[in-house]
Amino acid sequence: MSRGVYITTPLYYVNASPHIGHAYTNVISDTLARYFRLEGEEVFFLTGTDEHGQKVKNAALAEGKEVKEFTDNIVDNFIALWRKLNISYDDFIRTTQARHVKVVKEALIRLHKRGDIYLSVYKGFYCMPCESFWLASQLKEGKFCPDCGREVEEVEEKNYFFRLSRYQDWLQRFLKSNPGFIFPDYRYNEVLSFVENSRLSDLCISRPKSRVDWGIEIPFDKNYVTYVWFDALLNYISAAGAFFDEERFSRLWPAEVHFIGKDILRQHAVYWPIMLKALGLEMPKRVVAHGWWLAGEEGKDKISKSKGNVVGPDELIDEFGSDALRFFLLREVPLGLDGKFSRRALILRINSDLSNDWGNLVFRSLNMLAKYFHSRLPEAKKSMPSRYISIHQNLYSQYQKNMKRANFTRALEEVWKLITAANKSIEEEKPWQLYKDKKTDELSYFIYHLFEAIRVACLFLYPFLPSSCRDIYRRFTGKDILTRPLKEAIEWGSLEAGQLIDKGNPLFPRFDVD
Ligand code: MSP
Repeated sequence: MSRGVYITTPLYYVNASPHIGHAYTNVISDTLARYFRLEGEEVFFLTGTDEHGQKVKNAALAEGKEVKEFTDNIVDNFIALWRKLNISYDDFIRTTQARHVKVVKEALIRLHKRGDIYLSVYKGFYCMPCESFWLASQLKEGKFCPDCGREVEEVEEKNYFFRLSRYQDWLQRFLKSNPGFIFPDYRYNEVLSFVENSRLSDLCISRPKSRVDWGIEIPFDKNYVTYVWFDALLNYISAAGAFFDEERFSRLWPAEVHFIGKDILRQHAVYWPIMLKALGLEMPKRVVAHGWWLAGEEGKDKISKSKGNVVGPDELIDEFGSDALRFFLLREVPLGLDGKFSRRALILRINSDLSNDWGNLVFRSLNMLAKYFHSRLPEAKKSMPSRYISIHQNLYSQYQKNMKRANFTRALEEVWKLITAANKSIEEEKPWQLYKDKKTDELSYFIYHLFEAIRVACLFLYPFLPSSCRDIYRRFTGKDILTRPLKEAIEWGSLEAGQLIDKGNPLFPRFDVD
């Protein structure tokens, strides 16, 4: 059986509804998933929610709700947003599901048996909202959490620990021999230098039920629940059928890529590989960490619930459309860097790339077809006009290389060469003149290949603008865009003359910058 390309997103906390930062991680993951499907690959794309821990329980209590009722409601909001954003996930995992709980328990039992989990005393400081332990030396001003800035409490209690330290040398060797494991490179260097220059301490992976009771019980000690991160990371294998469904697991694991934000790199590039190693499982192929969206044109703060500057994706989609929002997120910053999110930047990007360049090209062409040929694609010589030859020759390999690396801005720049050439061809060939001069053969040749350029661009743009590209492609060809693998579908001259192409509405109208 063929192997599926397995792509994951982080599991989102369900203490609040999704914002633009969460939308970003899923848009990126969806773009790659759609790209692989476009290439004819079988894809398994997983997303879901991280539901345990006191943070979630407290959020429910604050609203006077039962945890289950509260989380179900938030999960519905996530699912509704993913639908609206066209996120084509194949599976949605919730850490409260039985299929996940049993894998977490099995992993704990196995690691405990091997001596990788042991009971000891924890002495230090605890940040309840982050559910993280800290040493006195790590605190801000002696009493505040270095992550969220809130006051920590001092604790001394027995807990279970996972022997990260035992695997430090192994992780160092693994990272050194797999420089492609973490993308971008500067994140790889950051992790490698952390692993080389600090001593890993063992990870506290339990919480006493007296303090935290909303979690997966430790199977060999009913006084404890599992630390939420240790529980959540295992979703990547529980959804793939680890321990209980060998056939499914061997088909899906290892994952092709874990997409994450830069804030959760250590968990994914240090804890997670060690957990897998200790369990005797293969490493995922890549961990790709994106940057943050910062609020406003000045972009000083990360967009987050605790900062109170949340940008709601729902309203943005209602106003600008899901394709346009996706495009902005993917085009505005190279993956890995931080971006500044503002309405103005969004509108400028839509106006320049989607309205002026792409939308205008499509709509102008459809208008010409309607006017000159009553919307029927004319018969013409199939040989490619010279202006497209070198662009078309290089496009597929450049696009493929950049898409595989999740280098979406570069991939789009490559596609734009074709769009720019097509727009330029209109200015240079002056079809209105050919029409006036009744040069029907030349006009037919020009129009046929203009439409062919749009059809090919549409294929390449599909992972970014799935809804509008699928629609254009169907109108042009009568077929679904995924009918043939990309490499075959881009063959020049595939459009059938005689096809009636409905003019439709203008694509991506311009917005006023207020
Ligand atoms: N539950 C953990 C992940 C467990 S994965 C096994 C978690 N959840 S989260 O809801 O806080 O964040 C999920 C993702 O959203 C992270 O990748 C994070 O980087 C991303 N974002 C949250 N705010 C963000 C921005 N302002 N900008 C971009 N992405 C950010 O961490």
